[in-house]
Amino acid sequence: MTAFPAPARLSRSDFPNDFLFGAATSAYQIEGQKFGNPGQTHWDTFAATPGNVVRAEDGAIACDHYHRFGEDLALTKSAGFDIYRFSTSWARILPEGHGTPNPEGLDFYDRLIDCMLENGLKPAATLYHWELPSALADIGGWRNREIPARFGEFAALVGERFGDRLWSVAPINEPWCVGWLSHFLGLHAPGLRDIRATARAMHHVLLAHGLAITALRDAGVGNLGAVCNFQDALPASDAPEDIEAAAREDAIYNHFFLSGLFKGTYPDRVLAGLGPHLPERWQDDFPTIQAPLDWIGANYYTISRIAHADGPWPNTREVKGPLEKTAMGWEIRPESLSRVLRLVAKYCPDLPIYITENGLASDDHLRGGVVEDPQRLAYLRAHLREVRDRMRDGLDIRGYMVWSLLDNYEWALGYEKRFGLVHVDFDTLERTPKQSYHAVQEFLGGASL
Ligand code: FCB
Repeated sequence: MTAFPAPARLSRSDFPNDFLFGAATSAYQIEGQKFGNPGQTHWDTFAATPGNVVRAEDGAIACDHYHRFGEDLALTKSAGFDIYRFSTSWARILPEGHGTPNPEGLDFYDRLIDCMLENGLKPAATLYHWELPSALADIGGWRNREIPARFGEFAALVGERFGDRLWSVAPINEPWCVGWLSHFLGLHAPGLRDIRATARAMHHVLLAHGLAITALRDAGVGNLGAVCNFQDALPASDAPEDIEAAAREDAIYNHFFLSGLFKGTYPDRVLAGLGPHLPERWQDDFPTIQAPLDWIGANYYTISRIAHADGPWPNTREVKGPLEKTAMGWEIRPESLSRVLRLVAKYCPDLPIYITENGLASDDHLRGGVVEDPQRLAYLRAHLREVRDRMRDGLDIRGYMVWSLLDNYEWALGYEKRFGLVHVDFDTLERTPKQSYHAVQEFLGGASL
């Protein structure tokens, strides 16, 4: 294993004064799905189906943020963060995905957003971080073109109700996960492994994004963006077929959504596989998909190493690499964040970039009131250095958000993988800031990291 080199220390003054730091979370991962009368979501039923999630854990209680958000936002503030990135649960607001809103859900987000503002935090909302209302899953979920239309209506409702207090809005978190991870790899709800479902979901999620942006603008909401995730795809060897396989993976993962959003087309390498399965007249949707944006968000964690595989498209397989890994088994390669940032800037040179998620899971334990997490600190430092260096090169990067504020429900991996700056005991729900939290707090207060 090759440990990544410890980078030189950084301080807040290495970044411009108006550069924003934030912490990120999402609804299903922290709120507690059973509280406040929401509708069922496809994550509830996916988790209840044996074999999908470690120990079949679900988000019923999660971090009970629903009742404890005051404490969580106080921790966010006292760390010195400027932004709190959170998401709204569609089924909490609209239990059936459309129709009559749930007053308790609306009230919850009213109180949550007000509490952010009272703590001096900028509310950065994501409208959809993966928990599709079951009523919409029943009619085919993201395969069905009706879902983008319903999502546009949901965005209008959120915009009208909360828009005056939101600092920014992004409709959808990580279209690749909604499309590919959930419909091709089958690892997230709804757990499909079907190329036609994938093609439709990948396209409909962008259509939903565009309809939501238009609805939000119409509701008078500003500072609108898109949040995509990126994974630098490296060839497993110098063999031409591995190089081509990595280019294919790169096209699917990193280029597809940027290309849809900013070029109004999809990459040829992806159309080679998904083209025959896209909905009819998909090209006609680009004017909607390409609704102008105010910023772009990049989520980055790790890389993949790709080799050629025989068999059906996309003829790729992932192989293990030699670099130091996180508790997820993900290789740590900070310079790939720079590659991602350059790629994003190429597609939309005029938009400010935010790193909307970056962080790692480590095997953290609470011992004597202390949680030591040195790998997290080294990871954050190394990635922040890349950000600073790319800004020096001239990239317009305006902010950086850590994933995550709290240990939380890590989807198919249940509660086992701990990504938080703050440790959560999932029996008592007690919060304990980890050493990385304290270091970030000192960094944001002016000390070096
Ligand atoms: C991202 C997701 C987030 C979390 C991190 C580890 O892809 O947006 O919910 O699961 O990965």
